[in-house]
This record gives sequence, structure tokens and C-alpha cells, in this order.
Amino acid sequence: MELMKNTPTLPLVIANWKLHPASLAEAKSLFVDIRNAVRRHDNVTVVVAPPYPFLSDLARLSPSGRVPIAAQDVWSEATGAETGEVSVPMVVSCGAQYMIVGHSERRARGEDNALVAAKTKAVLAAKQTAVVCVGETERDESGNFYSVVEQQVLAVLAVCSRTSISRLVIAYEPVWAIGSGETPTAQDIQEMRLFIEKCIAENMNRSAAKKVQILYGGSVNDKNAEQLFVDGAVDGFLVGGASLKPAMFGGIVKTLQKITTQS
Ligand code: PGA
Repeated sequence: MELMKNTPTLPLVIANWKLHPASLAEAKSLFVDIRNAVRRHDNVTVVVAPPYPFLSDLARLSPSGRVPIAAQDVWSEATGAETGEVSVPMVVSCGAQYMIVGHSERRARGEDNALVAAKTKAVLAAKQTAVVCVGETERDESGNFYSVVEQQVLAVLAVCSRTSISRLVIAYEPVWAIGSGETPTAQDIQEMRLFIEKCIAENMNRSAAKKVQILYGGSVNDKNAEQLFVDGAVDGFLVGGASLKPAMFGGIVKTLQKITTQS
């Protein structure tokens, strides 16, 4: 199957702050530093995913929507006896436009494909963008990791319609690459991108496959961004550790801006 590299929409780079920073004051200051670092890079969509308590304040710091806000997770139900959970309507009312679901750090706590699909369904039903994380825990030589990713993708496709599919983003994040300083080769990433596209094309259709942005995540930094983006043929990145360092994060975005402007 031919490579459908770089979907017509702008490259997407999402800053996943995880359990950082420690206070609202620090979150505001980090957000402003990131906003400034990416200010001139308008050929790239930059999204920041802070912890829940900071959503509203950061959304107010981006009134033009130049740097949209994401929630790092959501619950599948809108209301109910679900102590500690946070719903899609709640994060939307705080200004979030993107919702990450199925991050491996959540899957490691028992979240299965069915729950990830239910969460994705809730996000798409609210007409928001779902960023669904998929990825293997280890790369076995016999290639079984492809079927792990396939099951994760198929579970989510089952809740997508022809219209909502354009609001689905898939982030390929091999668990072993997250926070480890290791990455797959760009060739490995490109092969997985093609595999995910093929899953979508076969289970929906080819035009649906073209609409889904496919990101890579796992130890992305300003040094490896160019190669992973160009040779990995992805549509952007989900960035953890480097997103807490505005200069490094700005460097990643600048790299994609340069490549997109040249092509
Ligand atoms: P990392 O995290 O960039 O620190 O590897 C990526 C992620 O968990 O989304």
C-alpha cells in the first residue's frame, strides 16, 4: 500500500505534561513559556495537555485558541456514581478540545480496549477530538506486537462513524520507548504507520484512513524530531518529558514548521 504521509491537515504536536508541574502558578508560567516558544510556528498545531485542575486557567491563557488544551484522560460516562472520575462534558466546559485516551500509563492500571473504546465513543459523541494511544509493551521478533496494536485500533474503530473518524487521532507509542530515551527506528515507525492505515482502510475504507492523523510518541526530543517525522512519515508527535522544557519543545515544533514550510 502506498504511503499516505502527512495528512493534509497541519502537523500536530501534543505536550503531555503528565503529573507536572506541582502548582497552578508553575503551570501558567510553563504554558506562557511554551506559547512564546511556538509563537511563530503557525504551520504546526500545538496542543497542551495539563493535569485537570489547570485546564480552565490555561484555556483562558489561550483565548485565540492558538494553543488548544487537551485533557490527559476522561471517563466514559457523563454523570453518575463514579468517584474521582472526570467526564467529557466537564473538561469541555473547562475549555479542553482534545482528549487523550488509552495512554499506556492508564492501560497499565487495568484499562482495557473495551474501556478505551467507550471513552473514545464519549469524546466523539461530544464532537471533540480523541487522541487514542496504542502501542506494544515489547517488540518480539516474531512480530506479535502488530496484532497487539491491531486489537487496540480495531476496538476504537468499532465506535467510529464515517463522520466522526476525522476527529480521531492515533498516537503510536511503544511502551518501551516512553521516557526511556530509546526509540524505534524511523523505518519501524513508518511500517507501523502503514499498518495502522491498512487496518483503518480494511475496516472502514481508504478515505477514512486518510482522515486519521497518526502521531508517534516515546522519547521524542529536538534532536530526533526531524528524522522521526520525515523518515517515520508521521503526522506529528505526542511528547512527554521534552514538553516540560520550553526550549526543547519549541525546537521540536520549529523543526516541523521548517519541514512543512519547505514542502
Ligand atoms: P516521553 O513520553 O516523551 O517522555 O517518552 C511520551 C508519552 O508518554 O506520551
